[in-house]
Amino acid sequence: MDIKNNILETIGNTPLIRLNKIARNLPCAVAAKVEYFNPGNSAKDRMAVKMIEVAEQEGKLKRGGTIIEGTSGNTGMGLALTAIVRGYSCIFTTTDKQSKEKIDILKALGAEVIVCPTNVEPADPRSYYSVARRLAKEIPNSFYINQYDNLANRLAHYETTGPELWEQTDGKITHLVVATGTGGTVTGTAKFLKEKNPAIQVWAIDPQGSLLTKYFRTGEIDMKEVRPYVTEGIGEDFVPLNYEMQYIDEFEQVSDKQAALMSRRLAKEEGLFCGYSAGTALQGLFQLKHKLKKGDLAVVILHDHGSRYVGKIYNDQWMMERGFLDIKTFGDIISGRGSKALIAVPATHTAAEAIELMQKYHIENIPVTDKEQFIGSVSESGLFAKMMKDGQEIKNKAVRDILEPAYPVVSLDTPLDRLSALISKENGAVLGRDEAGNYHIVTKYDIIQALAN
Ligand SMILES: Cc1ncc(COP(=O)(O)O)c(C=O)c1O
Repeated sequence: MDIKNNILETIGNTPLIRLNKIARNLPCAVAAKVEYFNPGNSAKDRMAVKMIEVAEQEGKLKRGGTIIEGTSGNTGMGLALTAIVRGYSCIFTTTDKQSKEKIDILKALGAEVIVCPTNVEPADPRSYYSVARRLAKEIPNSFYINQYDNLANRLAHYETTGPELWEQTDGKITHLVVATGTGGTVTGTAKFLKEKNPAIQVWAIDPQGSLLTKYFRTGEIDMKEVRPYVTEGIGEDFVPLNYEMQYIDEFEQVSDKQAALMSRRLAKEEGLFCGYSAGTALQGLFQLKHKLKKGDLAVVILHDHGSRYVGKIYNDQWMMERGFLDIKTFGDIISGRGSKALIAVPATHTAAEAIELMQKYHIENIPVTDKEQFIGSVSESGLFAKMMKDGQEIKNKAVRDILEPAYPVVSLDTPLDRLSALISKENGAVLGRDEAGNYHIVTKYDIIQALAN
């Protein structure tokens, strides 16, 4: 029989998966350590269990006690799972930047979650660090985990992630690429691998707006580096104790936009539906690709699962609001057409004349005008359906008598998603009016083309 004693026994031994399409322009093989296979769907399960085990061993945590932590969700998930199995309660403080889904998941696992403001200094009494510290002082038999400075965090990766990668690559790994926050994953994994082979290159990837990259390069803690960013779980405005910079060879910064777009590509091109920091890590690897050569084997750690980001990076509206998706508009679609005049048919013309126009210009949809007003439309499919029903004599009727609905008229800055919403079974096209008062047409076919490019 192979029955796990509890959910915690399923942590670790996550698969290493070759990236086949997305990395095809790199000179070497790239494999992803897909950490969402952990039961809490992230790498943080590993360190959550370890931090509790060490606290128990050191007598800092007694059964029935309360675990307190400032967590953006993933560590909380691992801690909540461990607390359930080992009999603790949990109180988590988090920031208002985190996905609502993450917070609801923690609550579903029985944790109490306190949401604190993001844009305050760590030392501010309102920060999620300060609130966690204060609660730990006030609540008896409680233990503040402090994943940033708790060295059991990096120990977990030294004991599990590192050895797994060494074995899975048969010792052939040449580069380790990790998006980094507390520093536990990168430091612990790198320490183990470098002890095995000091030539392995370790690249830590940081979001723009974090001070870690500058600190790594200059040793300076420069608060001027700190700016708001939306990537979750990584980057810091201080240097956690888990870092041992001597195990890191490069620090590279990635923008929120590029990370988000790369996460979306990972899902579409590799079927790896991952969180935001996965895109950061892979984008960082791409930015440093000139340092890779044939025969290398780069491993990128993908920290968590995409399900917690469906309302964010996997939502087109969210992406557009932040300028992360280039929005195509009516104007963009018609921009390559030159100054061609709109082809329209007067209401008094016959259906045969409309069909002639369709054939001559290879078009399927024509607006119908009457005294310079658009009063309706005719379409190839509409005419065909009428001919099937009423026979060939339809051809001699005036288009006025066989009108289909008029096309909606929009401005040229109308975005593509709005245009596709306006196109329906009855409406094969949309008209746009430019500043000079000229009309242009965008059809269902144009929209399909624009979406494909
Ligand atoms: C989604 C995600 N990616 C990356 C990290 C960074 O890992 P570490 O804190 O070990 O540096 C975290 C940590 O919270 C995370 O939640």
